[in-house]
Amino acid sequence: MSAEEQELPKFEEPQSSNSTTSAETKDTTASETQDQTTESDKPKDKAPENPNKIRKRAVPAAQPSGFSSRRRGGDTRSASPSVSRGSPAPPPWAKKTAKDPNERPAWMKVEDYNMVHNANSEPITAPPTESNTDGPPQKLRRPGGRGGVDDQRYRARQERERYEEQHNREREEQNRRNENLDQIVRQHYNQRAYVAKRSRRNLSPIIKLRNFNNVIKYILIGNYAQPGWRTLDLGCGKGGDINKWDQAKISEYIGIDISNASIVEAIKRYKNNEAGFQSTFITGDCFGQPLPYILNDHPHVQLDVDIVSMQFCMHYAFETEMKARTLLENVSRSLRPGGIFIGTIPSSDFIKERISKMQPGEKSFGNSIYSVTFDNEPPRNGEFRPAFGQRYTYFLKDAIDNVPEYVVPFESLRSLADEFGLELTYKKPFLDLYKEEIPTWFKKLNPRLVEGMRRSDGSYGVEGDEKEAAAFYLAFAFQKVLM
Ligand SMILES: C[S@@+](CC[C@H](N)C(=O)[O-])C[C@H]1O[C@@H](n2cnc3c(N)ncnc32)[C@H](O)[C@@H]1O
Repeated sequence: MSAEEQELPKFEEPQSSNSTTSAETKDTTASETQDQTTESDKPKDKAPENPNKIRKRAVPAAQPSGFSSRRRGGDTRSASPSVSRGSPAPPPWAKKTAKDPNERPAWMKVEDYNMVHNANSEPITAPPTESNTDGPPQKLRRPGGRGGVDDQRYRARQERERYEEQHNREREEQNRRNENLDQIVRQHYNQRAYVAKRSRRNLSPIIKLRNFNNVIKYILIGNYAQPGWRTLDLGCGKGGDINKWDQAKISEYIGIDISNASIVEAIKRYKNNEAGFQSTFITGDCFGQPLPYILNDHPHVQLDVDIVSMQFCMHYAFETEMKARTLLENVSRSLRPGGIFIGTIPSSDFIKERISKMQPGEKSFGNSIYSVTFDNEPPRNGEFRPAFGQRYTYFLKDAIDNVPEYVVPFESLRSLADEFGLELTYKKPFLDLYKEEIPTWFKKLNPRLVEGMRRSDGSYGVEGDEKEAAAFYLAFAFQKVLM
Protein backbone atom coordinates (compact mmCIF):
# COMPACT_ATOMS: atom_id res chain seq x y z
CA MET A 1 0.00 0.00 0.00
CA SER A 2 1.35 3.40 -0.82
CA ALA A 3 1.88 5.90 1.94
CA GLU A 4 -0.65 8.24 0.46
CA GLU A 5 -3.43 5.64 0.29
CA GLN A 6 -3.44 5.03 3.98
CA GLU A 7 -6.24 6.62 5.97
CA LEU A 8 -5.47 7.39 9.56
CA PRO A 9 -8.11 7.05 12.22
CA LYS A 10 -9.15 10.17 14.06
CA PHE A 11 -8.71 10.14 17.79
CA GLU A 12 -10.15 12.11 20.63
CA GLU A 13 -8.12 14.90 22.15
CA PRO A 14 -5.40 13.71 24.51
CA GLN A 15 -5.87 14.11 28.25
CA SER A 16 -4.20 16.94 30.08
CA SER A 17 -0.76 16.16 31.39
CA ASN A 18 -1.71 16.00 35.09
CA SER A 19 -3.79 12.91 34.41
CA THR A 20 -0.84 10.89 33.14
CA THR A 21 1.00 8.20 35.01
CA SER A 22 4.33 8.99 36.57
CA ALA A 23 6.13 7.23 33.73
CA GLU A 24 4.30 9.34 31.22
CA THR A 25 5.20 12.60 32.87
CA LYS A 26 8.83 11.59 32.60
CA ASP A 27 8.39 11.15 28.93
CA THR A 28 10.20 12.81 26.11
CA THR A 29 8.89 15.59 24.04
CA ALA A 30 8.24 14.19 20.70
CA SER A 31 11.48 14.97 19.13
CA GLU A 32 13.76 12.02 19.43
CA THR A 33 13.87 9.91 16.39
CA GLN A 34 16.74 8.10 14.82
CA ASP A 35 18.91 9.57 17.49
CA GLN A 36 17.97 13.10 16.59
CA THR A 37 17.52 14.56 20.04
CA THR A 38 20.11 15.45 22.56
CA GLU A 39 18.20 16.74 25.56
CA SER A 40 16.14 15.28 28.27
CA ASP A 41 12.49 16.15 28.16
CA LYS A 42 12.36 16.18 31.90
CA PRO A 43 11.81 19.62 33.46
CA LYS A 44 15.10 21.31 34.13
CA ASP A 45 14.20 22.56 37.64
CA LYS A 46 14.45 19.21 39.39
CA ALA A 47 16.59 18.54 42.48
CA PRO A 48 20.31 18.23 41.87
CA GLU A 49 21.61 14.81 41.07
CA ASN A 50 22.89 12.60 43.86
CA PRO A 51 26.60 12.48 43.05
CA ASN A 52 26.83 8.90 44.26
CA LYS A 53 24.22 7.63 41.85
CA ILE A 54 26.42 7.21 38.83
CA ARG A 55 29.82 5.61 38.93
CA LYS A 56 31.97 6.90 36.12
CA ARG A 57 34.62 4.58 34.78
CA ALA A 58 37.90 5.81 33.43
CA VAL A 59 38.52 4.06 30.15
CA PRO A 60 41.40 3.96 27.70
CA ALA A 61 40.57 5.88 24.53
CA ALA A 62 41.37 3.21 21.97
CA GLN A 63 39.30 0.49 23.62
CA PRO A 64 35.54 0.15 23.82
CA SER A 65 34.74 2.55 26.67
CA GLY A 66 31.78 3.14 28.91
CA PHE A 67 30.05 4.04 32.14
CA SER A 68 27.98 2.10 34.61
CA SER A 69 25.35 3.10 37.09
CA ARG A 70 25.24 1.34 40.42
CA ARG A 71 22.64 -1.33 41.01
CA ARG A 72 19.49 -0.09 42.70
CA GLY A 73 18.25 -2.84 44.98
CA GLY A 74 19.94 -6.21 44.74
CA ASP A 75 19.89 -8.24 41.58
CA THR A 76 17.85 -11.33 42.39
CA ARG A 77 18.40 -12.89 39.01
CA SER A 78 20.67 -15.88 38.79
CA ALA A 79 23.74 -15.07 36.79
CA SER A 80 24.20 -17.53 33.99
CA PRO A 81 25.98 -15.59 31.32
CA SER A 82 25.95 -17.09 27.88
CA VAL A 83 29.05 -15.17 26.91
CA SER A 84 32.39 -15.51 28.63
CA ARG A 85 34.18 -12.36 29.61
CA GLY A 86 37.75 -13.54 29.66
CA SER A 87 40.25 -12.41 27.11
CA PRO A 88 38.68 -11.21 23.87
CA ALA A 89 37.58 -14.12 21.71
CA PRO A 90 37.48 -13.57 17.96
CA PRO A 91 34.39 -14.92 16.21
CA PRO A 92 34.84 -18.51 14.96
CA TRP A 93 34.89 -17.42 11.33
CA ALA A 94 37.77 -15.09 12.08
CA LYS A 95 40.03 -17.94 13.22
CA LYS A 96 43.15 -18.36 11.13
CA THR A 97 45.85 -21.02 11.23
CA ALA A 98 49.35 -19.62 11.24
CA LYS A 99 51.38 -21.35 8.53
CA ASP A 100 55.09 -21.43 7.94
CA PRO A 101 55.38 -19.91 4.46
CA ASN A 102 58.29 -22.24 3.74
CA GLU A 103 56.37 -25.32 4.70
CA ARG A 104 55.98 -27.85 1.85
CA PRO A 105 52.41 -27.70 0.56
CA ALA A 106 50.58 -30.99 0.91
CA TRP A 107 50.00 -31.15 -2.81
CA MET A 108 53.70 -31.06 -3.67
CA LYS A 109 56.01 -34.04 -3.90
CA VAL A 110 59.09 -33.88 -1.64
CA GLU A 111 61.55 -34.02 -4.54
CA ASP A 112 59.69 -31.27 -6.43
CA TYR A 113 59.63 -29.12 -3.36
CA ASN A 114 63.37 -29.61 -2.78
CA MET A 115 64.10 -28.78 -6.35
CA VAL A 116 62.09 -25.58 -6.42
CA HIS A 117 63.44 -24.48 -3.09
CA ASN A 118 67.03 -25.20 -3.92
CA ALA A 119 66.74 -23.40 -7.21
CA ASN A 120 64.68 -20.51 -5.85
CA SER A 121 64.38 -19.38 -2.27
CA GLU A 122 60.92 -17.70 -2.62
CA PRO A 123 58.19 -19.59 -0.75
CA ILE A 124 55.06 -20.70 -2.55
CA THR A 125 52.00 -19.71 -0.55
CA ALA A 126 49.10 -19.77 -2.97
CA PRO A 127 46.91 -22.82 -3.40
CA PRO A 128 47.81 -25.21 -6.22
CA THR A 129 46.43 -24.49 -9.63
CA GLU A 130 45.17 -27.16 -11.94
CA SER A 131 48.20 -26.81 -14.16
CA ASN A 132 50.59 -28.23 -11.62
CA THR A 133 48.49 -30.87 -9.91
CA ASP A 134 46.86 -32.71 -12.77
CA GLY A 135 48.36 -34.77 -15.57
CA PRO A 136 50.91 -37.52 -15.63
CA PRO A 137 54.26 -37.17 -13.86
CA GLN A 138 56.67 -35.29 -16.08
CA LYS A 139 60.33 -35.70 -16.66
CA LEU A 140 62.41 -32.90 -15.20
CA ARG A 141 64.63 -30.92 -17.52
CA ARG A 142 67.73 -29.08 -16.51
CA PRO A 143 67.21 -25.57 -15.13
CA GLY A 144 67.28 -22.98 -17.87
CA GLY A 145 65.89 -25.40 -20.46
CA ARG A 146 62.84 -24.08 -22.38
CA GLY A 147 59.33 -25.51 -22.19
CA GLY A 148 60.17 -28.04 -19.48
CA VAL A 149 58.68 -28.71 -16.06
CA ASP A 150 60.72 -25.87 -14.56
CA ASP A 151 59.06 -23.42 -16.91
CA GLN A 152 55.67 -24.80 -16.07
CA ARG A 153 56.38 -24.44 -12.37
CA TYR A 154 57.70 -20.97 -12.90
CA ARG A 155 54.56 -19.94 -14.77
CA ALA A 156 52.32 -21.62 -12.18
CA ARG A 157 54.10 -19.78 -9.42
CA GLN A 158 53.71 -16.49 -11.22
CA GLU A 159 50.05 -17.22 -11.71
CA ARG A 160 49.61 -18.00 -8.06
CA GLU A 161 51.48 -14.88 -7.05
CA ARG A 162 49.29 -12.77 -9.28
CA TYR A 163 46.23 -14.43 -7.76
CA GLU A 164 47.50 -13.76 -4.22
CA GLU A 165 48.34 -10.16 -5.04
CA GLN A 166 44.94 -9.50 -6.51
CA HIS A 167 43.23 -11.03 -3.50
CA ASN A 168 45.33 -9.02 -1.11
CA ARG A 169 44.51 -5.87 -3.03
CA GLU A 170 40.79 -6.66 -2.91
CA ARG A 171 40.99 -7.43 0.80
CA GLU A 172 42.81 -4.18 1.49
CA GLU A 173 40.31 -2.24 -0.60
CA GLN A 174 37.44 -3.83 1.32
CA ASN A 175 39.12 -3.01 4.64
CA ARG A 176 39.60 0.56 3.49
CA ARG A 177 35.94 0.79 2.52
CA ASN A 178 34.89 -0.65 5.89
CA GLU A 179 37.06 1.80 7.77
CA ASN A 180 35.70 4.63 5.67
CA LEU A 181 32.10 3.71 6.37
CA ASP A 182 32.71 3.31 10.10
CA GLN A 183 34.46 6.66 10.12
CA ILE A 184 31.72 8.41 8.16
CA VAL A 185 29.00 6.98 10.41
CA ARG A 186 30.89 7.67 13.61
CA GLN A 187 31.77 11.18 12.48
CA HIS A 188 28.20 11.93 11.44
CA TYR A 189 26.74 10.83 14.76
CA ASN A 190 29.54 12.42 16.77
CA GLN A 191 28.76 15.74 15.10
CA ARG A 192 25.01 15.39 15.43
CA ALA A 193 25.35 14.60 19.12
CA TYR A 194 26.10 18.25 19.74
CA VAL A 195 23.54 19.92 17.52
CA ALA A 196 19.73 19.89 17.58
CA LYS A 197 18.93 21.71 20.76
CA ARG A 198 15.36 22.01 21.94
CA SER A 199 14.58 25.41 20.41
CA ARG A 200 15.78 24.26 17.01
CA ARG A 201 14.10 20.88 17.25
CA ASN A 202 10.70 22.40 17.78
CA LEU A 203 11.13 24.30 14.53
CA SER A 204 12.25 21.20 12.70
CA PRO A 205 10.51 20.62 9.36
CA ILE A 206 10.25 16.94 10.29
CA ILE A 207 8.86 17.37 13.78
CA LYS A 208 5.76 15.22 13.08
CA LEU A 209 7.94 12.49 11.63
CA ARG A 210 10.21 12.55 14.67
CA ASN A 211 7.21 12.26 16.96
CA PHE A 212 5.68 9.55 14.82
CA ASN A 213 8.88 7.47 14.87
CA ASN A 214 9.03 7.85 18.62
CA VAL A 215 5.46 6.67 18.95
CA ILE A 216 6.34 3.61 16.85
CA LYS A 217 9.27 2.83 19.15
CA TYR A 218 7.11 3.34 22.27
CA ILE A 219 4.62 0.85 20.91
CA LEU A 220 7.22 -1.70 19.83
CA ILE A 221 9.13 -1.55 23.10
CA GLY A 222 5.91 -1.46 25.13
CA ASN A 223 4.48 -4.49 23.36
CA TYR A 224 7.57 -6.64 23.85
CA ALA A 225 9.44 -5.55 27.00
CA GLN A 226 8.20 -6.74 30.36
CA PRO A 227 8.73 -5.32 33.84
CA GLY A 228 11.98 -6.47 35.42
CA TRP A 229 13.60 -7.39 32.11
CA ARG A 230 17.17 -6.67 31.17
CA THR A 231 17.79 -4.84 27.90
CA LEU A 232 20.71 -4.59 25.50
CA ASP A 233 20.37 -1.62 23.13
CA LEU A 234 22.77 -1.87 20.18
CA GLY A 235 23.38 1.43 18.40
CA CYS A 236 21.66 3.18 21.31
CA GLY A 237 22.68 6.63 20.05
CA LYS A 238 22.11 9.48 22.48
CA GLY A 239 19.80 7.39 24.63
CA GLY A 240 16.66 8.54 22.79
CA ASP A 241 14.82 5.46 24.00
CA ILE A 242 15.67 5.67 27.69
CA ASN A 243 12.21 6.96 28.63
CA LYS A 244 10.56 4.27 26.58
CA TRP A 245 12.45 1.57 28.46
CA ASP A 246 11.64 3.32 31.72
CA GLN A 247 7.96 3.27 30.87
CA ALA A 248 8.30 -0.48 30.22
CA LYS A 249 9.75 -0.77 33.77
CA ILE A 250 12.83 -2.75 32.88
CA SER A 251 15.40 -3.39 35.61
CA GLU A 252 18.65 -2.98 33.68
CA TYR A 253 19.82 -1.35 30.48
CA ILE A 254 23.08 -1.79 28.57
CA GLY A 255 23.56 0.72 25.75
CA ILE A 256 26.34 0.40 23.16
CA ASP A 257 27.15 2.77 20.33
CA ILE A 258 30.09 3.33 18.02
CA SER A 259 29.87 7.11 18.53
CA ASN A 260 31.55 8.18 21.73
CA ALA A 261 29.89 11.60 21.62
CA SER A 262 26.49 9.90 21.46
CA ILE A 263 27.35 7.75 24.47
CA VAL A 264 28.34 10.87 26.43
CA GLU A 265 24.94 12.41 25.59
CA ALA A 266 23.16 9.18 26.51
CA ILE A 267 24.77 9.19 29.95
CA LYS A 268 23.66 12.80 30.46
CA ARG A 269 20.15 11.90 29.47
CA TYR A 270 20.09 8.90 31.76
CA LYS A 271 21.22 11.06 34.67
CA ASN A 272 18.75 13.85 33.90
CA ASN A 273 15.81 11.53 33.49
CA GLU A 274 16.42 9.56 36.67
CA ALA A 275 15.36 6.39 34.96
CA GLY A 276 14.30 3.63 37.32
CA PHE A 277 16.75 1.06 36.00
CA GLN A 278 20.46 0.56 36.40
CA SER A 279 22.51 1.20 33.31
CA THR A 280 25.84 0.68 31.57
CA PHE A 281 26.86 2.73 28.54
CA ILE A 282 29.72 1.59 26.36
CA THR A 283 31.41 2.84 23.20
CA GLY A 284 31.89 -0.09 20.86
CA ASP A 285 31.45 -1.39 17.34
CA CYS A 286 28.62 -3.92 17.42
CA PHE A 287 29.25 -5.10 13.85
CA GLY A 288 33.01 -5.34 13.98
CA GLN A 289 33.71 -6.58 17.48
CA PRO A 290 32.47 -9.63 19.37
CA LEU A 291 30.53 -8.59 22.48
CA PRO A 292 32.94 -10.28 24.89
CA TYR A 293 35.57 -7.92 23.56
CA ILE A 294 33.33 -4.84 23.85
CA LEU A 295 32.43 -5.83 27.41
CA ASN A 296 35.93 -6.66 28.45
CA ASP A 297 36.11 -3.74 30.88
CA HIS A 298 32.64 -4.38 32.26
CA PRO A 299 32.80 -7.72 34.05
CA HIS A 300 29.63 -6.92 36.02
CA VAL A 301 27.51 -7.04 32.84
CA GLN A 302 25.63 -10.32 32.62
CA LEU A 303 24.73 -11.12 29.07
CA ASP A 304 21.76 -13.39 29.28
CA VAL A 305 19.50 -10.44 28.57
CA ASP A 306 15.76 -10.76 27.97
CA ILE A 307 15.56 -8.37 25.07
CA VAL A 308 17.92 -6.88 22.50
CA SER A 309 16.88 -3.72 20.67
CA MET A 310 18.34 -2.24 17.54
CA GLN A 311 16.56 0.89 16.36
CA PHE A 312 17.38 2.56 13.02
CA CYS A 313 20.83 1.05 12.98
CA MET A 314 21.03 -2.38 11.33
CA HIS A 315 21.25 -0.97 7.80
CA TYR A 316 24.86 -0.04 8.49
CA ALA A 317 25.70 -3.69 9.19
CA PHE A 318 24.58 -4.93 5.79
CA GLU A 319 27.68 -3.55 4.20
CA THR A 320 29.26 -7.00 4.35
CA GLU A 321 28.15 -10.48 5.27
CA MET A 322 30.86 -10.53 7.93
CA LYS A 323 29.41 -7.47 9.67
CA ALA A 324 25.85 -8.78 9.50
CA ARG A 325 26.99 -12.12 10.92
CA THR A 326 28.98 -10.48 13.70
CA LEU A 327 25.93 -8.43 14.62
CA LEU A 328 23.58 -11.43 14.66
CA GLU A 329 26.11 -13.51 16.55
CA ASN A 330 26.28 -10.69 19.13
CA VAL A 331 22.50 -10.59 19.37
CA SER A 332 22.08 -14.34 19.62
CA ARG A 333 24.84 -14.87 22.17
CA SER A 334 23.42 -12.13 24.37
CA LEU A 335 19.87 -13.40 24.53
CA ARG A 336 18.53 -16.04 26.88
CA PRO A 337 16.50 -18.77 25.16
CA GLY A 338 13.05 -17.33 24.53
CA GLY A 339 14.48 -13.79 24.57
CA ILE A 340 13.33 -11.20 22.05
CA PHE A 341 15.18 -9.19 19.41
CA ILE A 342 13.29 -6.09 18.22
CA GLY A 343 14.26 -3.37 15.80
CA THR A 344 13.44 -0.92 13.05
CA ILE A 345 15.04 -0.91 9.59
CA PRO A 346 14.37 0.45 6.12
CA SER A 347 11.87 -1.80 4.38
CA SER A 348 13.24 -3.64 1.36
CA ASP A 349 9.61 -4.13 0.23
CA PHE A 350 9.09 -0.38 0.18
CA ILE A 351 12.38 0.11 -1.67
CA LYS A 352 11.30 -2.50 -4.21
CA GLU A 353 7.98 -0.75 -4.75
CA ARG A 354 9.66 2.61 -5.24
CA ILE A 355 12.21 1.16 -7.66
CA SER A 356 9.39 -0.27 -9.76
CA LYS A 357 8.18 3.31 -10.30
CA MET A 358 11.59 4.65 -11.29
CA GLN A 359 12.52 5.44 -14.88
CA PRO A 360 15.37 3.45 -16.51
CA GLY A 361 18.67 5.11 -15.65
CA GLU A 362 17.27 6.74 -12.51
CA LYS A 363 19.22 6.09 -9.32
CA SER A 364 17.23 8.07 -6.82
CA PHE A 365 13.81 8.35 -5.19
CA GLY A 366 12.37 10.48 -2.40
CA ASN A 367 10.63 13.79 -1.82
CA SER A 368 11.20 17.14 -0.12
CA ILE A 369 11.90 15.43 3.22
CA TYR A 370 14.05 12.45 2.36
CA SER A 371 15.97 10.89 -0.51
CA VAL A 372 17.58 7.56 -1.31
CA THR A 373 20.30 7.60 -3.96
CA PHE A 374 21.87 4.33 -5.08
CA ASP A 375 25.53 4.16 -6.04
CA ASN A 376 24.56 2.08 -9.06
CA GLU A 377 21.31 1.81 -10.95
CA PRO A 378 19.21 -0.52 -8.76
CA PRO A 379 17.86 -3.81 -10.17
CA ARG A 380 14.55 -3.20 -11.94
CA ASN A 381 12.88 -6.09 -10.08
CA GLY A 382 14.04 -4.73 -6.71
CA GLU A 383 15.78 -8.02 -5.87
CA PHE A 384 19.22 -7.14 -4.57
CA ARG A 385 21.93 -9.72 -5.26
CA PRO A 386 24.23 -10.20 -3.49
CA ALA A 387 22.37 -9.44 -0.30
CA PHE A 388 25.19 -7.35 1.14
CA GLY A 389 26.96 -4.17 0.11
CA GLN A 390 23.97 -2.69 -1.77
CA ARG A 391 24.82 0.85 -0.97
CA TYR A 392 22.73 4.01 -1.16
CA THR A 393 23.07 7.45 0.32
CA TYR A 394 20.29 8.49 2.66
CA PHE A 395 19.24 12.05 3.25
CA LEU A 396 16.66 13.08 5.82
CA LYS A 397 16.03 16.78 6.16
CA ASP A 398 17.38 18.22 9.39
CA ALA A 399 18.68 14.84 10.52
CA ILE A 400 20.81 12.67 8.21
CA ASP A 401 23.17 14.36 5.79
CA ASN A 402 23.73 11.90 2.97
CA VAL A 403 25.19 9.09 5.00
CA PRO A 404 25.89 5.76 3.28
CA GLU A 405 23.51 2.97 4.22
CA TYR A 406 22.88 -0.53 2.86
CA VAL A 407 19.72 -2.26 1.73
CA VAL A 408 18.63 -4.92 4.22
CA PRO A 409 16.90 -7.48 1.96
CA PHE A 410 14.41 -8.77 4.49
CA GLU A 411 14.39 -12.39 3.39
CA SER A 412 18.18 -12.48 3.64
CA LEU A 413 17.97 -11.08 7.15
CA ARG A 414 15.36 -13.65 8.03
CA SER A 415 17.38 -16.63 6.79
CA LEU A 416 20.63 -15.36 8.29
CA ALA A 417 18.89 -14.77 11.63
CA ASP A 418 17.57 -18.31 11.42
CA GLU A 419 21.16 -19.59 11.34
CA PHE A 420 21.69 -17.88 14.68
CA GLY A 421 18.58 -19.36 16.27
CA LEU A 422 16.48 -16.23 15.82
CA GLU A 423 12.98 -16.91 14.54
CA LEU A 424 10.89 -14.18 12.95
CA THR A 425 7.69 -13.47 14.90
CA TYR A 426 6.71 -9.99 13.71
CA LYS A 427 7.26 -7.78 10.68
CA LYS A 428 5.19 -4.67 10.06
CA PRO A 429 5.60 -1.51 8.00
CA PHE A 430 5.43 1.60 10.20
CA LEU A 431 2.17 2.91 8.74
CA ASP A 432 0.40 -0.42 9.29
CA LEU A 433 1.81 -0.78 12.79
CA TYR A 434 0.56 2.69 13.66
CA LYS A 435 -2.88 2.07 12.26
CA GLU A 436 -3.28 -1.22 14.13
CA GLU A 437 -1.83 -0.19 17.45
CA ILE A 438 -2.67 3.47 17.98
CA PRO A 439 -6.22 2.88 19.22
CA THR A 440 -4.79 0.85 22.13
CA TRP A 441 -1.84 3.12 22.70
CA PHE A 442 -3.30 6.57 22.23
CA LYS A 443 -4.12 7.16 25.89
CA LYS A 444 -0.94 5.53 27.16
CA LEU A 445 1.34 7.93 25.31
CA ASN A 446 2.66 11.25 26.52
CA PRO A 447 0.05 13.83 25.48
CA ARG A 448 2.75 16.22 24.29
CA LEU A 449 4.12 13.50 22.04
CA VAL A 450 0.68 12.80 20.62
CA GLU A 451 -0.07 16.49 20.20
CA GLY A 452 3.15 16.77 18.22
CA MET A 453 1.60 14.49 15.59
CA ARG A 454 -1.54 16.55 15.05
CA ARG A 455 -2.30 16.75 11.34
CA SER A 456 -3.83 19.59 9.41
CA ASP A 457 -7.19 17.75 9.36
CA GLY A 458 -7.21 17.51 13.16
CA SER A 459 -6.42 13.80 13.32
CA TYR A 460 -3.10 12.39 14.51
CA GLY A 461 -0.24 10.87 12.58
CA VAL A 462 2.06 11.85 9.72
CA GLU A 463 0.95 13.33 6.44
CA GLY A 464 2.27 14.35 3.05
CA ASP A 465 5.99 13.99 2.45
CA GLU A 466 6.63 13.08 6.08
CA LYS A 467 4.24 10.18 5.71
CA GLU A 468 6.14 8.74 2.80
CA ALA A 469 9.40 9.16 4.70
CA ALA A 470 7.84 7.19 7.58
CA ALA A 471 6.66 4.50 5.18
CA PHE A 472 10.30 3.81 4.35
CA TYR A 473 10.65 1.82 7.60
CA LEU A 474 9.38 -1.38 9.14
CA ALA A 475 9.50 -2.89 12.63
CA PHE A 476 10.44 -6.49 13.40
CA ALA A 477 10.70 -8.97 16.25
CA PHE A 478 12.60 -12.26 16.41
CA GLN A 479 12.62 -14.81 19.20
CA LYS A 480 15.66 -16.76 20.28
CA VAL A 481 14.94 -20.46 20.03
CA LEU A 482 16.97 -23.35 21.40
CA MET A 483 19.31 -24.65 18.71
C1 LIG B 1 19.93 6.60 13.48
S1 LIG B 1 20.88 6.39 14.90
C2 LIG B 1 19.74 5.56 15.98
C3 LIG B 1 20.02 5.75 17.43
C4 LIG B 1 19.00 5.11 18.38
N1 LIG B 1 18.94 3.69 18.21
C5 LIG B 1 17.64 5.72 18.18
O1 LIG B 1 16.75 5.08 17.65
O2 LIG B 1 17.46 6.86 18.61
C6 LIG B 1 21.99 5.10 14.44
C7 LIG B 1 23.02 4.83 15.52
O3 LIG B 1 23.75 3.67 15.16
C8 LIG B 1 25.08 3.86 15.60
N2 LIG B 1 25.96 2.90 14.92
C9 LIG B 1 26.28 2.84 13.62
N3 LIG B 1 27.16 1.85 13.37
C10 LIG B 1 27.38 1.25 14.57
C11 LIG B 1 28.19 0.15 14.98
N4 LIG B 1 28.96 -0.51 14.12
N5 LIG B 1 28.17 -0.21 16.28
C12 LIG B 1 27.41 0.48 17.18
N6 LIG B 1 26.64 1.53 16.85
C13 LIG B 1 26.61 1.91 15.56
C14 LIG B 1 25.34 5.31 15.25
O4 LIG B 1 26.46 5.84 15.93
C15 LIG B 1 24.04 5.95 15.67
O5 LIG B 1 24.05 6.39 17.00
